[in-house]
Amino acid sequence: MCEKIYRSVLVGCGTVADVHLTALCEGNYAKVTALCDILPEKAKAAMNKHGINCRIYENYEEMLDKERPDCVHICTPHYLHSKMAAEALSRGINVFLEKPAAANEEQLSELLSVEKKSAAKLCVCFQNRFNPSTLLAEKLLTEFGPPIQAFGSVRWKRDVPYYTQSGWRGKWSTEGGGVMINQAIHTLDLLLRFMGRPEYITATCSNHHLKGVIEVEDTCEAMIEFDGGRQGLFYATTAAVKDTQIELQLICKEHEIRIIGPRVYLDGDPLDVANYFGKEDRRVLVKECYGNSHITLIRSFYDALSKGEEMPVTLESAAEAVRVLLAAYRSHDERIKIH
Ligand SMILES: NC(=O)c1ccc[n+]([C@@H]2O[C@H](COP(=O)([O-])OP(=O)(O)OC[C@H]3O[C@@H](n4cnc5c(N)ncnc54)[C@H](O)[C@@H]3O)[C@@H](O)[C@H]2O)c1
Repeated sequence: MCEKIYRSVLVGCGTVADVHLTALCEGNYAKVTALCDILPEKAKAAMNKHGINCRIYENYEEMLDKERPDCVHICTPHYLHSKMAAEALSRGINVFLEKPAAANEEQLSELLSVEKKSAAKLCVCFQNRFNPSTLLAEKLLTEFGPPIQAFGSVRWKRDVPYYTQSGWRGKWSTEGGGVMINQAIHTLDLLLRFMGRPEYITATCSNHHLKGVIEVEDTCEAMIEFDGGRQGLFYATTAAVKDTQIELQLICKEHEIRIIGPRVYLDGDPLDVANYFGKEDRRVLVKECYGNSHITLIRSFYDALSKGEEMPVTLESAAEAVRVLLAAYRSHDERIKIH
């Protein structure tokens, strides 16, 4: 339970901001004092939709300087994440940052160094870490030991309108990549958490279905090597005909765990996830593929701030998936060292 009402602002009033504002309006831990978007009509629409009475800005630095908030939610395109987060941290403002933490290595190391020097806190939005299915798999792994092989798969559909609707998508300079840095990063993050520190990667990335529309990859397959010959196999595409549930298969010495969307199977048998973690909030917030854990994570962020505890998703832990996917981009089918 959060012990304080924080003064919060949000920058980037697009698709995902709606989920953040739902969480902020439902929770009793924050009051939204301002919204910012370079298209002020989007900020106004968000304000009206959520019944918030707040100020509107077109420039986020002006918002940070004038509002002097406790926290900022950053929901802008990828290339702006690290710069906006660093500007907030250097003003002593806590940050709840949408994924990815950064769009390239330089941005990532700059943000890590600014964060180390700041007294303010930063949490990255890897909400799927808090899905009951993830928590159950983690609980089982504490009994079974680390998997000897993990397989992760994301097969979604992102067609031309998805890219034309928001022009930053599909371009190296603004999205920083395609399916790996945008959609599959969550599942990659989970695979890394289940497996531990990765050592090598061999990957191929290609654009199968939107040649001439996007510059970035729509499909990636990778083999990630871990200590002791343990293996992570990964496949991600946005060239599918429809979105299907993400899948993770974790093969341990004596057992096999499978996650398919919200469901968990142990050695082929379904487990009752609700038995372990209570009934899940199964509302669809904007899009089903976001999962249902934004609200849990945002609440935990404010909770951790109020108790002075470690962030529920630290920048250092979230950086690992960025390092691995950037290594996948460099690989071009060669085996390369990740760290
Ligand atoms: N955690 C998740 O599951 C999840 C889901 C969807 C999106 N995301 C992430 O959220 C971020 C936003 O994605 P989206 O789909 O909402 O994009 P979007 O294009 O719908 O929204 C981005 C908004 O940022 C605004 N913007 C751009 N430049 C700005 C600037 N300089 N200052 C202020 N506002 C600016 C745009 O006008 C737009 O309203 C991305 O990083 C994306 O990867 C995360």
